[in-house]
Amino acid sequence: MNFKTCAILLAVITLAGIAAPTTNHALANEMTVIARQSDMKSMAEAAKLIDAMFKGNTSYDSELFRDAAETIYKRSGSALTVHFEGNSVIFGSQASSTIMTERAEFNSLANDLGVYANSLSSAAESHPDSLTQDMRMKAGEVIGLGPFGKKIDPATAVLSMPAEHAFHMLLQTCASCHAQFRLKTN
Ligand code: HEC
Repeated sequence: MNFKTCAILLAVITLAGIAAPTTNHALANEMTVIARQSDMKSMAEAAKLIDAMFKGNTSYDSELFRDAAETIYKRSGSALTVHFEGNSVIFGSQASSTIMTERAEFNSLANDLGVYANSLSSAAESHPDSLTQDMRMKAGEVIGLGPFGKKIDPATAVLSMPAEHAFHMLLQTCASCHAQFRLKTN
């Protein structure tokens, strides 16, 4: 090998060494955004189905109801937060930089989502045939976590909530996270 070929080879190897990690990094970022947005879309579909059953627009089917709740459950908690680790601000993403500064709050909302989804899944299991009255919110029941100003753990509160109430809390968790951590784009 003459000197010129050797120098070119060296240059190619060096360039590849620099360029490859950059490209892989960009690709990994792109995959992360695709994965988390697609998980979000699946959760939106699932929530729509449960909503339609509560509204009576779709007839109640406990298996479909449970599958939808599980779809959300599987994408909640650490399955959700893992998509936003490190620098969550990526081109093509609506994730806000506040995720990095308020990670505890972000993670806690992701966990709450799992608490409500899991409770809906159990409700479907214990109501195989029909969406009975005990799954419904009672007249005058206020959506929320107990008396105003009191901080109640969702995992405890959900135990005494009818499924419909848990579903409203689940939707509120989606909305609350979006309000704090998702950029608005029109
Ligand atoms: C812990 C925070 C958090 C929770 C909880 C959450 N989301 Fe999101 N969601 C986000 C963030 C952040 C984005 C922006 C992601 C991006 O663009 O990279 C997003 C984006 C979305 C999108 C847009 C996806 C796209 O294609 O751009 C939909 C739809 C969505 N969420 C639905 C839901 C639904 C439905 C729920 C509840 C069942 C939910 N989300 C719960 C944080 C959350």
